[in-house]
Amino acid sequence: MSTGFTLWLTGLSGAGKSTLARLLEAELKARGLRVEVLDGDEVRQNLSQGLGFSKADRDTQVRRIGYVARLLTRNGVVTIVAAISPYRKAREEVRAQIGRFIEIYVQCPLRTCIERDVKGLYKKALAGEIQQFTGISDPYEPPDRPEIVVDTSRQSPDESLQAILAGLEETGYLPQQAAKAVSVS
Ligand code: ADX
Repeated sequence: MSTGFTLWLTGLSGAGKSTLARLLEAELKARGLRVEVLDGDEVRQNLSQGLGFSKADRDTQVRRIGYVARLLTRNGVVTIVAAISPYRKAREEVRAQIGRFIEIYVQCPLRTCIERDVKGLYKKALAGEIQQFTGISDPYEPPDRPEIVVDTSRQSPDESLQAILAGLEETGYLPQQAAKAVSVS
């Protein structure tokens, strides 16, 4: 059985966590790994139905995701988490529990997330129609020492994906991709 690990994508809403999670999922499956994605929005529709966005509820959400990630990871699954997970302490807690944990900071300036506003939630948050919205009326604590950082305002999704794969190869979580054969004549 191959060894599992957890890729924990943290960042603002609209930074690109879910997009990168799906790209990573496809790439790692193509490399023959068993992969699961735990996406914050989806977990909230299932395991975390009824949870809101207070600090306590967000920490509960992160702990639940961390618990499932730990079970999957120890069974050889590459587990990709895409959740804002705004509080450093809760992320450190799940890191300690999971062990084989790679924190990926999906960085994107708030103004770019507001411009993108994929779900139309920033508009509502700025109008005061949604309370406790991360980055607007609720905190986001960036990681101090993430293993990998991508900046989706400067990179294309594929460039961010390649940067993550390179980081995983450098740290030994993924085998180096065989170099392309060079023909010598
Ligand atoms: S977390 O803070 O608890 O880790 P999570 O990633 O699960 O957040 O869910 C965030 C998603 O919930 C956002 O992408 C957005 O679609 C939605 N959402 C609704 N209300 C809020 C809010 N107040 N703050 C942040 N996200 C919100």
